[in-house]
Amino acid sequence: MPPLSSSAPGVRQAAFRFRCIACGDVSDSASQNFRCTHCGDLLEITYPQWKGAVPEAQNLRNTWRQRRLSQSAIDQSGVWRFRELLPALASDDQAITLREGNTPLYELPQCARLTGVPRLFAKHQGLNPTGSFKDAGMTVAASFARLAGFRWVACASTGNTSASMAAYAARGGMRSLVVVPEGKISWSKLSQALDYGAVTCQLRTDFDGCLRLLQELVLRAPVYQLNSINPFRLEGQKTLALELLEQLDWQPPHHIIVPGGNLGNSSAIGKALVEMRDLGLISRLPKLSVIQAAGANALVRTLREAAGKRLISVQAETRATAVRIGNPASWKKAVHVLEVTGGACEQVTEIEIAQAKAEIGAEGIGCEPASAVTLAGLKKLVKQGFVKSGEGVVLVLTGNLLKDPDFTMGFHHGDLFKGSAEESASAALNPLRRPPIVLDATLDAVIRTLERAEKA
Ligand code: F0G
Repeated sequence: MPPLSSSAPGVRQAAFRFRCIACGDVSDSASQNFRCTHCGDLLEITYPQWKGAVPEAQNLRNTWRQRRLSQSAIDQSGVWRFRELLPALASDDQAITLREGNTPLYELPQCARLTGVPRLFAKHQGLNPTGSFKDAGMTVAASFARLAGFRWVACASTGNTSASMAAYAARGGMRSLVVVPEGKISWSKLSQALDYGAVTCQLRTDFDGCLRLLQELVLRAPVYQLNSINPFRLEGQKTLALELLEQLDWQPPHHIIVPGGNLGNSSAIGKALVEMRDLGLISRLPKLSVIQAAGANALVRTLREAAGKRLISVQAETRATAVRIGNPASWKKAVHVLEVTGGACEQVTEIEIAQAKAEIGAEGIGCEPASAVTLAGLKKLVKQGFVKSGEGVVLVLTGNLLKDPDFTMGFHHGDLFKGSAEESASAALNPLRRPPIVLDATLDAVIRTLERAEKA
């Protein structure tokens, strides 16, 4: 029988409320589409109790550390381990958990040399149970879906959310509906949703079209929406930053760099950083920067052309299909986070993404294309002098290398840019390519290949 889990002395799990990010209206419940009933903007979760009795930072740190020795499922979750800063469950067994979180922080010495940054780390969220950062948010949101009595959960997705949602729904005894753009998500991600038992609809539209449809669907059918518009998702994803700071002994890095798609993750990390500072867990805020693919650069344009005041949507096109999003739902939250932390927002080309992905792979770590925008973006931020020599940087790798094998194979075979405008420029990537070599099955042939590789 696993031991019962415990809370920090004098610290209760948090009672929470929903607050509209635009008009500030506070309420105890949220509507089906997680939009403010007064002005229609997005909601976030707040913890009014923290105002009166701020939990003791050192108590929290000790409690979270102790839980790593526990055998109980909720303590072994790298998300629920931090439950004092999450919406409260009435009992531990209400959590649907696959022991998400607990992801490693790796040093990247070769990439550090390439970029001129002395200490460069990767927080690898691709090592979550379904292979992406989505699991950290899904454990919280799926648990609250079940608590609310829903039989069906649903999401629009570029692939990772759907894989994660399908898994957590299955673990929690719920049915799941996945709505994805036809032909525009990787087979790996699609196959996960199928295996986890989701009802999977491939719509003849893009991600933005899928999300629009889902927003209408939740108002008509008794399904619970698990996109990152759902503020419970962002509470779970906050723990990425808590775990990261714990791994750094609560010494904040100068920079955290994250890919931007629908902009839920950057919003979640930024919220966590501010909360940690307000609770005395860290002494200063790292700069949180968001990097987008140049072909899906709605936030970049929103900041440059509209000073962050109104969204400039784009027709998204990128091989990094996870971030092929032109109308990001959480853009206002992300603009706020960039302002509060003083972070930058940059865009990177398809070639830069492919190069950065191969460079991360060459460190023995690997990630999916959307994650590699972080390294490509870092190079730009160093060139611009935004990241200064001597500053510590953490890249958030959001997805596993195995999420998109077609991209990786295309890169190494040299097919990735064939027939595209980037074809001639992509020749610069040749030194990074390692195509498989077909040989006769002789010792001689293999030894000659080995010798050639040694000289190269
Ligand atoms: N990286 C990966 C691997 C992703 O799957 C996503 C988003 C992002 C980055 C961007 O994060 O949307 O929070 O800004 N994937 C979503 C999905 C949209 O449906 O799987 P974001």
